[in-house]
Amino acid sequence: MTSPSLSTEQRIQITEANCPRNSMAEDVEKGLTNNPKVLYPKYLYDDRGSELFTEICALPEYYQTRTERRILKACSMSIAENYRPTTLVEYGAGAAKKTHQLLDAMREVGTLRNYVPIDVSSAFLQESAMRLAERYPRLTIHGLTGDFLEQIDLPYPDEPRLIAFLGSTIGNLTDDEADIFLHQITSQMNTGDLFLLGTDLVKDVAVLEAAYNDSQGVTEKFNKNILGVINRELNADFTPHTFHHHAFYNPVERQIEIHLVSKEKQSFRIEAIDLTVEFEKGESVRTEISCKYTKRRIMKLLRQ
Ligand code: AVJ
Repeated sequence: MTSPSLSTEQRIQITEANCPRNSMAEDVEKGLTNNPKVLYPKYLYDDRGSELFTEICALPEYYQTRTERRILKACSMSIAENYRPTTLVEYGAGAAKKTHQLLDAMREVGTLRNYVPIDVSSAFLQESAMRLAERYPRLTIHGLTGDFLEQIDLPYPDEPRLIAFLGSTIGNLTDDEADIFLHQITSQMNTGDLFLLGTDLVKDVAVLEAAYNDSQGVTEKFNKNILGVINRELNADFTPHTFHHHAFYNPVERQIEIHLVSKEKQSFRIEAIDLTVEFEKGESVRTEISCKYTKRRIMKLLRQ
């Protein structure tokens, strides 16, 4: 057991797991010269975007967060008792509010030792690590920043680990990307390790679409934030107010798609990549997909 005499700071370590293979410049150039225009969802999650997403999780229309919390509440104790993991690894940890149920159950059973949150936003990792280190006085926290689609070497290979990917974050990935991601994980799993996946299921279209078109406009702000990220990081001049937020369910692909639709014919400069991007009136750029699953689709991914 970790010595309780270690200070909060001594129990926290945050390291960079990998360098993203594609730079943002390359990704944005590729996406905005593509027809139709697309951007990778991961660029929605800078510090401001992650903050807005936390706000989304508390919206009345966004049923996912509270539903998953209820499910975790119901099953955390039996997972902790039956499998006795010492280490919780969490991909896409974000504000790490999802994991309290699991950490509490592991502590109650008496096996809890290590927590490994993984996220793209290091500010969020820092903040949640401090909070959790205070809440769990014997817990060692080893945060990792990095891109999920790249190899991330998971620490504590000799411990029984519970590897969690919650919040339907997997829905941001295409099935091919999900396949690569799941392979990264399973190739590192040893006997005694567990994988826990939280996904959103296909359901009534009105319910799905309301969750991405909230009445307070938080999702719209979250969506438009990606233009601010590009402006800041790549020295561009996008004007977020000249775009509409448009989110809808695509039943063929079984995914929510989030777009920014240009209100007028206009063009923008992205200095860092020396690119002029032109939009027709009504032309859109897709900023995010959120796949909705059937049991069959999940089983197919997991079987592969
Ligand atoms: C973080 C990918 C799970 O797809 O529901 C919520 C992101 N975007 N509202 C989702 C999101 C707009 C969310 N995930």
